[in-house]
Amino acid sequence: MKQPVRVAVTGAAGQICYSLLFRIASGGMLGNDQPVILQLLEITPALKVLEAVKMELNDCAFPLLHDVVCTDDASVAFKGADYGLMVGAKPRGPGMERADLLKDNGKIFSTLGKVINDVANPDMKICVVGNPANTNAYILMKNAPNLNPRNITALTRLDHNRAVYQLSEKTNSSMSDIKRMTIWGNHSTTQVPDISHTTIAGDAAIDKVDTSWANEEFIPKVAKRGAEVIGARGSSSAASAANGIIDHMRSWVLGTNEGDWVSMAVHSDGSYGIEEGLIYSYPVTCKNGDWTIVTGLDNSDFIVNKMKESEKELQEERDTCSDLFA
Ligand code: NAD
Ligand code: LMR
Repeated sequence: MKQPVRVAVTGAAGQICYSLLFRIASGGMLGNDQPVILQLLEITPALKVLEAVKMELNDCAFPLLHDVVCTDDASVAFKGADYGLMVGAKPRGPGMERADLLKDNGKIFSTLGKVINDVANPDMKICVVGNPANTNAYILMKNAPNLNPRNITALTRLDHNRAVYQLSEKTNSSMSDIKRMTIWGNHSTTQVPDISHTTIAGDAAIDKVDTSWANEEFIPKVAKRGAEVIGARGSSSAASAANGIIDHMRSWVLGTNEGDWVSMAVHSDGSYGIEEGLIYSYPVTCKNGDWTIVTGLDNSDFIVNKMKESEKELQEERDTCSDLFA
C-alpha cells in the first residue's frame, strides 16, 4: 500500500465539498490505491457543521481514508499538504457576474497565499475553485512566491465537461467519443469553448454542426451555464463543480488519455500570444504529474479575437485588485 497523501480542502462545510470530500475519500481523485488524509479548513462559525461532515465521512468507512483533520487555522490545514483544493469563498447569486465577487473573495486568497507560502510543501499542487477562479489563483500565486507557479491552477474543467455534453446532445453522439474539447481563457462569460479541433469518433466535430450553431449557440450556452444552473437551483452548481475538481486533479496527477487533452487554467507561458503569467485556460496534456500546453493549434480570427477578449478581462480583473499583491 502507498503512503497516505495530505489533501487540504477549504470551504469544507459548503455545498461543493459535501460532494467533493466523499469522492476524494473513496479514491475517485487520486486512485483506488492511494490512501488520503483530509485536512479541512473552515471559518470558525462553520466548524460545527464541519464536524458533522467528518462524522459522515467516518460513517462511510472508506478504506482509503486514514484521517480527517478539521480546523479554522489555515496553517494547520496546509501543513505538509501535497494537494490544495481552494473552494472556500462566497458564491454568486442571480444577476451577478463572477467578477463581482472579487472584492470579498480576493482577500481570502491573498491571506491564504501568505499562509501557504510559509507552511506548505513548495511542491503542493493547487486547484482554485472559489470565484473569480482565475484571478483568485493569480492573487494566491503573487502572495506565495515560494511555490512553483506551475502548480497553481484554476478550474475550467466544469466548463470543458459542459461543452462535451452540449456537443454530444447536438450531434447525438456518445460523450466518450468526443476528444480534444477546448476552453480558452477566463472562467467567466468571456470564456471561449472551442470545437475547432474537437473530434467525434475520430471525425472533425466542425463538419457535423453548422458554424452558426458553434459560434452563436454553443459558445454562449456553455459560457452562461453557471448562471442557468443558479436560475434553476437558486444556488450555484455544486455536484458538477465537485466532479470537475475530481477530473481536473485526476488528469493532472494520473495523466491524460493518449490522443486527448483537457482544459485547465494554468500559468501562461505566452503561448498563443496571451500575456505571460496570467492564469489562462488552455488545452493541456498531463503526464508524470505535470501539464503541458498543447501548442501549434491553428485558430480562426473569430476564436483569436475571443481569446484576446478573455485575456483583456483577466488583465482588467488583475488591475482592479492590485492592492492584494505586491
Ligand atoms: P458555499 O457557500 O456552499 O460554501 C463555501 C464555504 O466556504 C462556506 O462553508 C464558508 O464558510 C467557507 N469559507 C468562506 N470563507 C472561507 C475561508 N476564508 N476559509 C475557509 N473557508 C471559507 O459555496 P460553494 O457552492 O461550495 O462554492 C464555493 C465557491 O466555488 C464559490 O466562490 C463559487 O462561486 C465557486 N464555484 C466555482 C466553480 C468553478 O467552476 N470554478 C464552480 C462552482 C462554484
Ligand atoms: C459555475 O460555473 O457553475 C460556477 O462558477 C458558479 C457560478 O457562479 O456560475
